[in-house]
Amino acid sequence: VKSGIDPGWEEDLRQKSGAVNFWLEKLLPPADSVPRELHEAMRYCVMAGGKRLRPLLALYAYEVCGKPYLDIIKPACALEYIHTYSLIHDDLPCMDNDDLRRGQPTVHRKFGEALAVLAGDALHAYAFELLASTGRAEVVEEVAHAIGNYGMLGGQICDIMAENREVTLEEVEQLHRGKPGAQIRATRMVGAILGGMSANDIRHLYVYGEKIGLAFQIVDDILDVTAESSCLGKTVRKDLESGKATYPKVVGIQKSWEIARALVESAKQDIEKMSIPAAVFKVIAEVIVSRQN
Ligand code: IPE
Ligand code: IPE
Ligand code: MG
Ligand code: MG
Ligand code: MG
Repeated sequence: VKSGIDPGWEEDLRQKSGAVNFWLEKLLPPADSVPRELHEAMRYCVMAGGKRLRPLLALYAYEVCGKPYLDIIKPACALEYIHTYSLIHDDLPCMDNDDLRRGQPTVHRKFGEALAVLAGDALHAYAFELLASTGRAEVVEEVAHAIGNYGMLGGQICDIMAENREVTLEEVEQLHRGKPGAQIRATRMVGAILGGMSANDIRHLYVYGEKIGLAFQIVDDILDVTAESSCLGKTVRKDLESGKATYPKVVGIQKSWEIARALVESAKQDIEKMSIPAAVFKVIAEVIVSRQN
């Protein structure tokens, strides 16, 4: 993640990303183990890179509780596996039909559709195995709810149903809150619940998460219009071509930026209200609007 943030935080982010990447690789089944094709496809998309935003959010939520972040590296990796599963399926011909992801051909392009469906399913299942290993049912429940019909999947179906028709700002907000929003919100909840955060602080972090989750998706929409494919690692100008309901389509680029900015400012205030120091979440909120990819 490139940004103009304080070098101290940047170093810390680099360190945690390093740990996440190390464990993501280590926890995956070996590429030469049976069923080999499936394991190869699982590893292919996970290890292609990505910002690792979701595990990082979980690790920070745990760390601000005064706990060593490596304690929860497995459930944190589970969140990245779930995210990667959602990307593999999102790219399928029956969904967004994309050829490029994380700077390389999408899983179905490289391995075929059957393997893309199954590799996604396998990452999804494995993630819940890892989450269950925490022994905390409420963590499993939080994530399951966030990515299910009332969360991410609900958002995905609205996204598809809204293709090629007029949508209002309310509608696009609604579907964006579902889509990745719920997933991003849940990531911090995992860290906060496991870290033993107070109910009041969890509430503030939850509200913060709703706002940055939405801001994140708005910026994703904007980057589809303004960024270059080489930087983004996925095909650009795709939303317009597919008639997607996006913020730029509904309110224009300028207003989209203003809304994302306002959400981030408001989210930073939620962090101020917490009883424990959690300034890193303000930094992350800034990174979300200043990111280039
Ligand atoms: C892309 O997520 C899909 C959305 C939810 C908008 P990211 O932008 O976090 O993708 P990676 O993980 O960095 O590849
Ligand atoms: C996908 O949103 C959100 C998911 C839950 C996977 P997009 O369809 O906008 O994500 P990109 O732009 O393909 O990464
Ligand atoms: Mg999509
Ligand atoms: Mg897509
Ligand atoms: Mg997008």
